[in-house]
Amino acid sequence: MKKEIIQPAKYLTGAVELPGDKSISHRYAMLAALAAGTSELRHFSAAADCHSTLGCMKALGGEVGVERDTVRITGRGPQGLKSSWRALDAGNSGTTMRLLAGILAGQNFSSKLTGDESLQKRPMKRVIAPLREMGADIRGRDDNFAPLEIRGTKLKAIDYKMPMASAQVKSAVLLAGLFADGVTSVTEPARTRDHTELALEEFGVNVEKQGLTIRVGGLGAGNGSGKLTAKSLDVPGDVSSAVFFLAAASLFPDSNVLLHNVGLNPTRTAILDVLAEMGASIQMLGLKSSQGEVIGDLAVKGASLKGGVIAGARIPLVIDELPMLAALGPFTEEGIEIRDAGELRVKESDRISALAENLRSMGAKVEERPDGLKVEGWHAGKLRGAEIEPRGDHRIAMAFAVAGLAAQGSTVIRDADCVGVSFPAFFAELNRLAER
Ligand code: S3P
Repeated sequence: MKKEIIQPAKYLTGAVELPGDKSISHRYAMLAALAAGTSELRHFSAAADCHSTLGCMKALGGEVGVERDTVRITGRGPQGLKSSWRALDAGNSGTTMRLLAGILAGQNFSSKLTGDESLQKRPMKRVIAPLREMGADIRGRDDNFAPLEIRGTKLKAIDYKMPMASAQVKSAVLLAGLFADGVTSVTEPARTRDHTELALEEFGVNVEKQGLTIRVGGLGAGNGSGKLTAKSLDVPGDVSSAVFFLAAASLFPDSNVLLHNVGLNPTRTAILDVLAEMGASIQMLGLKSSQGEVIGDLAVKGASLKGGVIAGARIPLVIDELPMLAALGPFTEEGIEIRDAGELRVKESDRISALAENLRSMGAKVEERPDGLKVEGWHAGKLRGAEIEPRGDHRIAMAFAVAGLAAQGSTVIRDADCVGVSFPAFFAELNRLAER
């Protein structure tokens, strides 16, 4: 397994092009395979996760061609998928498994969905339960874990009050709703990313939104729900990948970094508000709307960070950015406290435990709690380089690479290849921008 050694930096300077947004790439790939005709998806994510989705859609009969970051997918319409003779492999990707479960539940064939060791430990009951209410025949290990065996069947629409704020669960139910009789609704307890709703609309499906409720009708004849049509779409840069550069640049007074074409969908930009409230200097430039999504450049300069508390309804909107925020804690005046984020324990790793352990190994003072952690600020002492164990989790590896830039001595990131799950060029880009 490859190690990366991070030496301290003086500042960061230059421009970065981020990989295409992971969440959007998954959704475009799935919908393109369900639409009749050829879709062209430009700036498709280089993430291993999104390539897991492509592999699954191909195994299900979609024609998939990849040329650098352009992906062409030819589908045969919503009833055009075919059964795969082998198990569908979602790799490390929770989004692939949960969203596909929704689609597969409504097909007229059986499927088996599996994933890597980490994914096989992540809870699937959250999608199994609502899909069963829709009439789906799904079995999992201990009724909660992959591999999932899904016997496709005719589904019925439900009104689902989601018990947790999860975009993946919402999306699984809405996608299953395309194959149900009647109108399916999902009501969220708190707002989560809305890329599924926007992507459905882009591909021609009618979606009704009313407060925290989203409705979609089955695509069967006479429902007036719209029609999935092949599209040419550009995927914006991934703001969840941008955050590592926003954080790294913020740490040094002389930094000056420009991030091009970042997806700035309002359900994803709470992280920019959090960073701004902490004193970060981030400017949004050239905002424009692009195929239902918002896109723009971000200019970031060094700043002194105050720190603070992140909790409540904000948590689902910054869920993927919490590892980076926590690892910024020791560089802030007041430290950083994260509450109401028990979900972090069931991500690609137990992120609360992984953050606490690795922060402590760098000398930070951390209090670990069931639903979050409290990281003391710079008054508790300067961080020193250490061997970081990311537990196979890309966002832990990247967060600690950034912390390593501002620590004393060198930091070793073990199993550094795990960043390929979302951002294969991460270390090359970080080293290109870091002046030493
Ligand atoms: C995602 C939703 C979030 C997020 C994940 C991507 C999506 O997961 O953490 O990285 O694309 O819908 P949850 O729905 O489990 O919160």
